[in-house]
Amino acid sequence: MKLLLENAHIEGIRYYEAYRKNGGYRSVEKALKMTPEEIVEEVKKSGLRGRGGAGFPTGMKWSFLAKPEGVPRHLVCNADESEPGTFKDRYLMEFLPHLLIEGLIVSSFALGSNATYIYIRGEYAWIPDILEQAIAEAKNNGWLGKNIQGSGFDCEIYVQRGGGAYICGEETALIESLEGKRGNPRIKPPFPAIAGLWMRPTVVNNVETLAAVVPIINMGGEEYGKLGVGRSTGTKLMSACGNLNKPGVYEIPFDLTVEEFIFSDEYCGGIPNGKRLKACIPGGSSVPILPTNLLLKDSQGNARQMNYESLSEGGFATGSMLGSGGFIVLDEDQCVVRHTMSLAHFYNHESCGQCSPCREGTGWMYKILKSIEYGKGRMEDIDLLWDIQRRIEGNTICPLGDAAAWPVAAAIRHFRDEFEWHVLNPEESQTRNFGLAHY
Ligand code: NAI
Ligand code: SF4
Repeated sequence: MKLLLENAHIEGIRYYEAYRKNGGYRSVEKALKMTPEEIVEEVKKSGLRGRGGAGFPTGMKWSFLAKPEGVPRHLVCNADESEPGTFKDRYLMEFLPHLLIEGLIVSSFALGSNATYIYIRGEYAWIPDILEQAIAEAKNNGWLGKNIQGSGFDCEIYVQRGGGAYICGEETALIESLEGKRGNPRIKPPFPAIAGLWMRPTVVNNVETLAAVVPIINMGGEEYGKLGVGRSTGTKLMSACGNLNKPGVYEIPFDLTVEEFIFSDEYCGGIPNGKRLKACIPGGSSVPILPTNLLLKDSQGNARQMNYESLSEGGFATGSMLGSGGFIVLDEDQCVVRHTMSLAHFYNHESCGQCSPCREGTGWMYKILKSIEYGKGRMEDIDLLWDIQRRIEGNTICPLGDAAAWPVAAAIRHFRDEFEWHVLNPEESQTRNFGLAHY
């Protein structure tokens, strides 16, 4: 069942006329007849969890929003999708911009935000124009601006381009950047729900989360909540990449197994050239890499499913490995050391530099991984790497530090023999075509 991408194939759906003709903006009509509290209640009933990566219950986040007398509140849409392997929000904004605008209007009404912002990743250079056109179309048709559809509610949506920094996807860094400052994360608490944009109460939600508000209002929170498995309700967008026959963006039901997602023709269509599956990062680069045996089956030997619970079972991650839905697949020819080095370089480059463990530790990890990958590593470097990542985790202002530590920890935990092989075979260690055959 598709809730978000149902109409994605319709020609011209990017534009207002086709979108409206196919049922667009019905949720706004319905919502404006409800009270804001009733909308928050529907979202709570739906069990919707934040789709940016943390999986925090959206209705609960909304109910935390402070409402001091006379202080404006804001909704901010986090469209700074920068997690390596994650591109599902890009797809939504590019092909279904009105779905996001519709979700933003309903959510703004529920939260009392008269000025709502979309903060979009700088590298998505062509998408702000698409969003701005959709906003203009919505405004021309009375869905935005003053006194929306005669409801007495005013709402404007502004698009703000980011400068291309990964850290600005962290909600407090995003807020700093939106305020015109350097995007340094703030210490939490206070959470944005209490003191966010210009220290006003602010809700920051991911693009997919806000788009999901549309089907929730249309079908009712309770019905939405019946779809899925356990506390994973509704559907989920996944962006699949790496060694796959059919990489792309898929809307999946939560009872789909990981094996079905990778191998069935309906989804990723298996691994090219009949190669074997070596490992996968199920939810964007900040979650641990898993070898095939742990990826396809849980600790009880049951088929692992694509939902928050099944992908956190086994104690591999603090949160769920479903993460931001960035599904990266590695075939038997891929080198885990090289892959980990590449991620370490990314996190080192993107660290804002405020906390020493992250600023220094990410650089040390990258340098050590580089020396191992290029045949200059020592056996004791593997333990040193382990020690550094352990000292970063939990000791930083924002989750970037943890996100830099976890891939290194998981790679050593599950593929230590591959690190050792590099140390023992310095001449061959730079060979790119490195695979299972080496051990
Ligand atoms: P978090 O767990 O700290 O917070 C989740 C949300 O709940 C935040 O909006 C926070 O303000 C709110 N919250 C939590 N406790 C609260 C309380 N007591 N009162 C009020 N609000 C509260 O996680 P965070 O830092 O928002 O996100 C980390 C995740 O982001 C990682 O799991 C990672 O997967 C993901 N990520 C996604 C990226 C992407 O491109 N989509 C990029 C980088 C990371
Ligand atoms: Fe900056 Fe890293 Fe500290 Fe986050 S963990 S605040 S990115 S130095």
